Amino acid sequence: MNDLDFFYNEELNSLKEKNLYRSLKLPHSIDLSSNDYLGLSENKFLKEKFKEGVEIFGLGSSASRLIRGHRKIFSNLEEKFSEYVNASDSLFLANGFVANLGLIDCLTDKDTVIISDKLNHASIHDGIRISNSKTKRYYNHNDLNQLEKVLKQFPNEKKFLVTDSLFSMDGDFSKLEEILYLKHKYNFFLLVDDAHSLGIFGENGSGFSSKFSSKIEFRTFTCGKSFGLEGAFISCSKLAKEYLINKLRTFIFSTSPIPAIAYTLFFAVDIVKEMNPERKKVLDYSNELINFLKENKFQTGETVSHIIPVFLKNENFALLSSEFLSKNGFDIRAIRPPTVKEPRLRISMNAKLKKEEFDKLKLVFLELKKYLISEGYCFE
Ligand SMILES: Cc1ncc(COP(=O)(O)O)c(C=O)c1O
Repeated sequence: MNDLDFFYNEELNSLKEKNLYRSLKLPHSIDLSSNDYLGLSENKFLKEKFKEGVEIFGLGSSASRLIRGHRKIFSNLEEKFSEYVNASDSLFLANGFVANLGLIDCLTDKDTVIISDKLNHASIHDGIRISNSKTKRYYNHNDLNQLEKVLKQFPNEKKFLVTDSLFSMDGDFSKLEEILYLKHKYNFFLLVDDAHSLGIFGENGSGFSSKFSSKIEFRTFTCGKSFGLEGAFISCSKLAKEYLINKLRTFIFSTSPIPAIAYTLFFAVDIVKEMNPERKKVLDYSNELINFLKENKFQTGETVSHIIPVFLKNENFALLSSEFLSKNGFDIRAIRPPTVKEPRLRISMNAKLKKEEFDKLKLVFLELKKYLISEGYCFE
């Protein structure tokens, strides 16, 4: 074993001892862990459109968009998506991670004060990490008193605040209205990541942030979740888009997305708009499940959405619960540090779930409760 292998081995053993080791598991049983909230990854019409897209455009786009990778379908999609989410314009990218990562770096310089909710997504944290800014501040999750204190410390500096819209591991929302009030008072510019509410919240699923669109400089949306595909949008003003085309490193120095994906997304926008019954189903089931879990003394935190955490005190209980649910027919994964501070199950509701499966899910949770008690778990 060479030095590097020795190091990997030590590190992996240490993760195993702490119940923090991860391995890849294929999807199995009934899906309650993916972000395919509307079930569109299996949509027949969109699958046909994808094939059609490959026929029309070929496979890869063969270069970055500024070289030879640009296609009219990207612009058509950007226009259509912008109209949907109430934005002046949008830039389409390969995925949400590179959208956030590049955007934060691109919009800030050494003198910009970057302010972030501590529970923002990893791509936001990494964007802040690589930024040249000398001043980076993190406030406790949704603690706007603490945020205001930070804002008061930098009255004249250029400030950039970034927040998730719907928090991906907790299922609660940022306090966007209050943040906009503070924005008016303290003058900062704002990036809102609306990855998880797109498709489920807002008018016709256009995202929680869409009704505030005129007051938010930048919004990011991903297409790997409710849209069932892949890709992301940065929605902003026309001039900002022009700036990003010239400055955004994760856009400039990366092969442009597969055109057939953009072609399929073009049709997915129309489908998602029409899915109010599915949105209602997802949210009705989510509310019912949250109430049921609470009645049975499971801790679900502050969720008000289709993302339902079930807090389980330690990594071992989280893993045992996930295994138990899997043996009983449900794919619900344990989420552990460093992804989150407190180990939990993350249930993500989706429109594919059938009524009989939903009823079974509740029964299985009652069995899980008995099992956890037998393993020494204490339900207060
Ligand atoms: C809030 C949030 N932003 C961005 C991303 C990254 O998006 P993508 O999966 O398209 O890279 C995710 C992915 O989980 C996310 O949860």
